[in-house]
Amino acid sequence: MGMQDGVRANGGDGRIVASAPGKVILFGEHFVVYGSSAILCAIDRRVHVGAAKSDGIRITSEMGTLECESFSRDAADVDPVLRPLYHIAKEACRMAGRSEGITLDVESEIPPGAGLGSSSACCVAGAAAALRVLGRHPGHNEGAVMRMAAEAERTAFPNASGADTAASALGGMITYDRKSGWAAIRRQSGGPGFGLVVSDSGIRHNTESVVGMVSGFRDSHPEEFEELSRMESGLVSDVTKLLVSGAPPDDAAGTASALGRWASLNQSYLSRIGVSNAKLDEMIGEMDGFTHGSKITGAGGGGCAIAFTDPDGMAGAAANLASRGHDCFAAGIDYSGCTTS
Ligand code: PMV
Repeated sequence: MGMQDGVRANGGDGRIVASAPGKVILFGEHFVVYGSSAILCAIDRRVHVGAAKSDGIRITSEMGTLECESFSRDAADVDPVLRPLYHIAKEACRMAGRSEGITLDVESEIPPGAGLGSSSACCVAGAAAALRVLGRHPGHNEGAVMRMAAEAERTAFPNASGADTAASALGGMITYDRKSGWAAIRRQSGGPGFGLVVSDSGIRHNTESVVGMVSGFRDSHPEEFEELSRMESGLVSDVTKLLVSGAPPDDAAGTASALGRWASLNQSYLSRIGVSNAKLDEMIGEMDGFTHGSKITGAGGGGCAIAFTDPDGMAGAAANLASRGHDCFAAGIDYSGCTTS
């Protein structure tokens, strides 16, 4: 049995498989750290986690393996890459009063360190699988899963806002700000009105160091940063209104082209705070040539960019970009969020 079958197969022995989607930030990254809202969207690339009761603790993923006989090890002593899952295993067993252990196996369709929410999706799927295999039955938007996943993620990234884990657990599009938390964007009618292409720069980024660099920019240019934050808040509010109201059915391209224009505007703000680079600029310049507009998604300094296309234009745009040598894909919106089987 291959790794893929191994993780996804529910062997009928009480083993549970949960999966959760990755995400892109459509608008608002970085400014969200200082109080503005961001808009996130779950995408159709998933992390699958299989969970089974076992005597010891065993966690396997392509990032590494952790095996121990008991939970005596402190989470802080575990490799940061596996620490969130160790936290989940330990916490789920504690909640269930189980002293033996649990096995968690991870398989991911999402590249790590690319700003596509691989670690959040892993935490959400891990929490759902672990809670369910130990006798709990959380629904896909169960608060316990979100809470445990956000807590787990903070064992490795103490400043994680919880926005990624909410998008992954719920699916669809959400708004997020630090004060009010998340809110689902429920469209009043029709489909999303746009298509998305994701392109990977191939440069892995470290979110904390890029966020630190932006903090330096804010310290040295307080007035400029303040003005950009104000403009970003206005932009996110306009986008949210458009996404909620939905475009008239005969005006789907209108939604996509408005989003593309706003993406280009948002990208100009991100460039001003210094999170773009030559590779991202080149990729975005190319995408702008045959889509409605594009921008960095996530921290920048590397990672991915997204482009907005017409609803039926994303496959063609992705093929065009791939033919120019870019590592890209047409991303569908995931509306299922976290699921278990
Ligand atoms: O880790 P990424 O690439 O998904 O980006 C995080 C988004 C930031 O706004 C840059 C940081 C944050 O905590 O919101």
